[in-house]
Amino acid sequence: MISSIAVDPDFRKEGAGFELLKDAIRIAKSVSSSDAIYKIELQVATSNTAALSLYKKFGFRFVREMQDYYGLGKDAMQLELRLDGE
Ligand SMILES: CC(C)(COP(=O)(O)OP(=O)(O)OC[C@H]1O[C@@H](n2cnc3c(N)ncnc32)[C@H](O)[C@@H]1OP(=O)(O)O)[C@@H](O)C(=O)NCCC(=O)NCCS
Repeated sequence: MISSIAVDPDFRKEGAGFELLKDAIRIAKSVSSSDAIYKIELQVATSNTAALSLYKKFGFRFVREMQDYYGLGKDAMQLELRLDGE
């Protein structure tokens, strides 16, 4: 389980986040031949434009909005990436 992905602020916008997520997806796909992992789910703050943009690059799709998920007025979105082609 990956509970979060983060890059040191001094090293952002240099491609590290992209590489981290690419590797995580590659590893998930490599163990999913037995259908052990068929999707990756995550929650991200609606205001987190950097992370949302990163996830969209990999094809994560919107599942639902979660009101007050991070506290009052701090909504989140649930996103998912299907590994089984659905
Ligand atoms: C989200 C995070 C991991 C991205 O890491 P990063 O190393 O800066 O990202 P990269 O340089 O690999 O950028 C990859 C893509 O992410 C998106 N992105 C990254 N920073 C962005 C910004 N400030 N604004 C908009 N999009 C951004 C872009 O789509 C970017 O692709 P591009 O360079 O072709 O435009 C980083 O901003 C971070 O650590 N944020 C704080 C922790 C966090 O919010 N984690 C996610 C929790 S759900």
